[in-house]
Amino acid sequence: MRPIIEIVGLSKTYASGFTALKHVDLEIQRGEIFALLGPNGAGKTTLISIVCGIVNPSTGTVHVGGHEIRKDFRATRSLIGLVPQELTTDAFESVWATVSFSRGLFGLPPNPAHIEKVLKELSLWDKKDSRIMMLSGGMKRRVLIAKALSHEPKVLFLDEPTAGVDVSLRKDMWEVVRKLRDSGVTIILTTHYLEEAEEMADRIGVITKGELILIEDKAVLMRKLGKKQLTLHLHERLDALPESLSAYSLALNSDGQELIYTYDIQAERTGITRLLKDLAEAGIRFRDLNTTQSSLEDIFVDLVRQTQ
Ligand SMILES: Nc1ncnc2c1ncn2[C@@H]1O[C@H](COP(=O)(O)OP(=O)(O)OP(=O)(O)O)[C@@H](O)[C@H]1O
Ligand SMILES: [Mg+2]
Repeated sequence: MRPIIEIVGLSKTYASGFTALKHVDLEIQRGEIFALLGPNGAGKTTLISIVCGIVNPSTGTVHVGGHEIRKDFRATRSLIGLVPQELTTDAFESVWATVSFSRGLFGLPPNPAHIEKVLKELSLWDKKDSRIMMLSGGMKRRVLIAKALSHEPKVLFLDEPTAGVDVSLRKDMWEVVRKLRDSGVTIILTTHYLEEAEEMADRIGVITKGELILIEDKAVLMRKLGKKQLTLHLHERLDALPESLSAYSLALNSDGQELIYTYDIQAERTGITRLLKDLAEAGIRFRDLNTTQSSLEDIFVDLVRQTQ
């Protein structure tokens, strides 16, 4: 089946002369959760804004659901829900009114049952008559999600949906996003929280300085780039690493009680057997050991550093 979003050769140079996107190609499959990761100013919001028709591209084409976004703006826009990064809501309106009004903007007839369902899913039902200015920041963000879902979009963009949202609410929002995906909505989210991408995404794109430097299945990415660490808890403190072990990528922690060995899971030889033998020869004994796998966060930091 044709991807729901097809982006080809997309570039954007703002009027200021700044190039925020450089030849981006990206396909999003129906029903996936795609996480776009990147540091501040990488071009995430620019990319989303172009797909949503808010910013004009300098070059390249975007199709959503088979429609070219500029030729067929109305058709594409009606397929898309956007939760913007900035909190913008009509402060004096009630939750119910503002969400219903959003639906009307798409020329759709009122559907109170749908609005009720959305508000209930987002745990906003008991706030439906509250004025938006009376809500907390996290609730306002959920109102933005409700607005974006008011016209039953097929694709939902969430631009940093959980910025400034506390841990428990963040988990609730992940749950909501998963439910939406299960109901057939394709989701593209941007985030600074690696934990979020790790938890939610089927695929991950990493963008930095306007370039999409990597697109990969989350599981593949973690396997491909993952490093493992072996931590040896020593019997006796070490002041320094013995010369005989200098060939290993070993680190001694600050109190001299732990030796940390980093190795590549994909490598044919991890070097562990030889390391343990050499440690025994050097008279270093240990009480315990454990291994940990690098998180997506480590992978991401490594990647972005490499391109700087
Ligand atoms: N209207 C504009 N005119 C000129 N430059 C802009 C404009 N909008 C964004 N930029 C620049 O384009 C670059 C990308 O911005 P963008 O908002 O897309 O980044 P981002 O990845 O969403 O960052 P953040 O994580 O901080 O939200 C930045 O350097 C920004 O200053
Ligand atoms: Mg942004």
